[in-house]
Amino acid sequence: MKYNRCGKSGLLLPQISLGLWHNFGSVDSFENGENIVKAAFDKGITHFDLANNYGPVPGSAETNFGKILKNNFQGNLRDEIVITTKAGYTMWNGPYGDWGSRKYLLSSLDQSLKRMNLDYVDIFYSHRFDPETPLEETMMALDYAVRSGKALYAGISNYNAEQTREATEILKRLGTPCLIHQVKYSMFVREPEEGLLDVLEEKGVGCIAFSPLAQGLLTDKYLKGIPENSRASNPNGHLQLEEVSEAKVQKIIALNEIAKGRNQSLAQMALAWLLKDNRITSVLIGASSVGQLNNNIDSLQNLDFSAAELLEIEGILGQ
Ligand SMILES: NC(=O)c1ccc[n+]([C@@H]2O[C@H](COP(=O)([O-])OP(=O)(O)OC[C@H]3O[C@@H](n4cnc5c(N)ncnc54)[C@H](OP(=O)(O)O)[C@@H]3O)[C@@H](O)[C@H]2O)c1
Repeated sequence: MKYNRCGKSGLLLPQISLGLWHNFGSVDSFENGENIVKAAFDKGITHFDLANNYGPVPGSAETNFGKILKNNFQGNLRDEIVITTKAGYTMWNGPYGDWGSRKYLLSSLDQSLKRMNLDYVDIFYSHRFDPETPLEETMMALDYAVRSGKALYAGISNYNAEQTREATEILKRLGTPCLIHQVKYSMFVREPEEGLLDVLEEKGVGCIAFSPLAQGLLTDKYLKGIPENSRASNPNGHLQLEEVSEAKVQKIIALNEIAKGRNQSLAQMALAWLLKDNRITSVLIGASSVGQLNNNIDSLQNLDFSAAELLEIEGILGQ
């Protein structure tokens, strides 16, 4: 595993990080999730990403991750991993369990720490921009989380370029630099290229790309319809059936041919394609099996693209 510096910080993150959004909830097999985390760490994945609401049920991915830590990461091993959590989406009833108030963020962080049985997380994120709460208040909550020792670094997620510029400037003034932006980015989701990546580079903020496989679309999984054990067919999955459209499948088929020419799986090529940009600190994958995880890690064996390959890929994506 190679470790990239996160923006202009002192923190190194693995090129591939593991997220626990799907497959780690109370509805899932605990043993399978535990095996995935153990296999990831054995291969050098030192960064595990959570959020208060991951499950289902919301919170259960953190509870399960706490058990995985207890079973496998005792003692100083905690110092060998980076654990992140977030607050920003709906978590509990009433006016204080959603969006970006100080009240919500800080009580949610306490709840997350309890669920995972941790003294601190490495990174605490504002999960989304809140148009109703002053940005100063949300950023002051992140700053406080760091100053109180409950988080080591602050991050933001799903903020657009302008919101990111403002948030990083406020955090800088407060004395807690913005470490990282967690952004949806893949061959199928290109919006970050329209200004956000430039702001991150200018401000020295790291970038971790989530759903780099477009929730499994950028793999060989949907080449021949929708298999039973797939996120698209899972009632708890966030990949809607409509997203597996005929037009998308045609692109997937064409991309798969280029991947074959590179002796890679489509998943491997999709990850390599993101990592070729040195503004991307890490790609944040999900996996429903150890086999998928290993397949994705092998993407690191070939991160180079010829100009002709890149052109061909752009041609397919632009169709
Ligand atoms: N900040 C945010 O708002 C936000 C939002 C979403 C996600 N995230 C973070 O990003 C992480 C990753 O998101 P994601 O799970 O959508 O990422 P992803 O890597 O795009 O999709 C992962 C899914 O693709 C399929 N897959 C993975 N590798 C495969 C392979 N080699 N071959 C075939 N299929 C494969 C599996 O689904 P199957 O079930 O079909 O096997 C797997 O669960 C999350 O866990 C979370 O930490 C953050």
